[in-house]
Amino acid sequence: MDSKHNLSRRRFMGGTAAALGYLGLKPGSAMGASLPRPPKDLASLQERDDYDSLIKLSSNENPWGPSPAMWEAMDSARKYSNRYGYPDANIQEKLAEHHGVQPENILLGAGSGETLRVAGHAFLGHNKKVIGVEPTYLTVYQVASGIDADVIALPLDSDYRQNMDDTIKLTKRHYRDVGMVYICNPNNPTGIVVNSDDIRALLDEIPVDIPVLIDEAYHHYIQDPAYATSVPYVAEGRPVLVARTFSKIYGMAGMRLGYGIAPADMIEHMRTYTTGSVNALVKWGGAAALADTEYERWVKDTTIRLRERTITAVRDMGFNVLPSETNFFMVHTGRPAAEVRAEFRKRGIMVGRDFPPMLDHLRVSISTEEDMDRFLEVWKEIFPEGVAAGG
Ligand SMILES: Cc1ncc(COP(=O)(O)O)c(C=O)c1O
Repeated sequence: MDSKHNLSRRRFMGGTAAALGYLGLKPGSAMGASLPRPPKDLASLQERDDYDSLIKLSSNENPWGPSPAMWEAMDSARKYSNRYGYPDANIQEKLAEHHGVQPENILLGAGSGETLRVAGHAFLGHNKKVIGVEPTYLTVYQVASGIDADVIALPLDSDYRQNMDDTIKLTKRHYRDVGMVYICNPNNPTGIVVNSDDIRALLDEIPVDIPVLIDEAYHHYIQDPAYATSVPYVAEGRPVLVARTFSKIYGMAGMRLGYGIAPADMIEHMRTYTTGSVNALVKWGGAAALADTEYERWVKDTTIRLRERTITAVRDMGFNVLPSETNFFMVHTGRPAAEVRAEFRKRGIMVGRDFPPMLDHLRVSISTEEDMDRFLEVWKEIFPEGVAAGG
């Protein structure tokens, strides 16, 4: 009895400094000395300052975050933080309405990363294959390798576009084993779109029962008229799953909300793999985001203006930059991008990561005007002689 009591007390003590305060003990006391971790407050504050002071151009986030209307909606939902069932702003119905589909065509996730993971588990079991390109966004491939599914990744063409004829041929050749085709549109890290004609050709030519996952995380930034969303294929009943996120244009990467749009039978099949990890606040924030079209337009216009200004400045120094339809761009550094990244990091700027095989290209996310000015300043420091220094 005594030892049980001690054990549960010790477990309780393993928590926070607040728990120590509550029991009137100090970390130096006999029980405090047995705490598994020292109070972390100071260390984490330090980490937080370091993080806050970095210029973050590495994860394609929206630097401005949620709009005032979204904050207000999330604030109003704080009172549901302690509930399981609560009014959820009808986010599922609002998304369905937004896309002209039915609520049973929508599957919410903690970011579209969850949608991609769920799709991987749902469609790639039993050693199935996923067909896609390289480089691209890796979540689906990572799930595949975790469950012993195969990844067949085609190289991009010399203009960094996806070769749809090859994608179709490859899918047909392996069709008995293909669990899913993955298309990132526009592609991350290149920022280049797959034309709507190519998507249609793919859907028309591959066997009708092969699921096609089209990741439209950067949909809201696109201007290229050759692109079209693939959502209408869902209403046609094709086995298409479109993944969307609130992390980019809506500025809620840290809040985690994304979703898939697909025929109801695909959604039902995927549902068993979800974690139910979408929180109350973000549902309200998401509903407010859909309504705040003015903010969405402002983020789009501002991001594109800053992207084009930065790209022009880098091109004027002689560098080759891929055309981008997103909130990031890729520039040819002419030397290992890892070295360039390290130079940026020394000066407090986080930028890109490796995207094999494009190891001499740097992916740069668009942030505020001030951040992009600093990026250009540092770029000039790293490449004082323009492109010549890039080798
Ligand atoms: C193409 C693509 N898909 C999906 C995601 C996942 O985003 P999230 O899980 O925040 O919705 C990202 C994030 O960078 C992405 O670039």
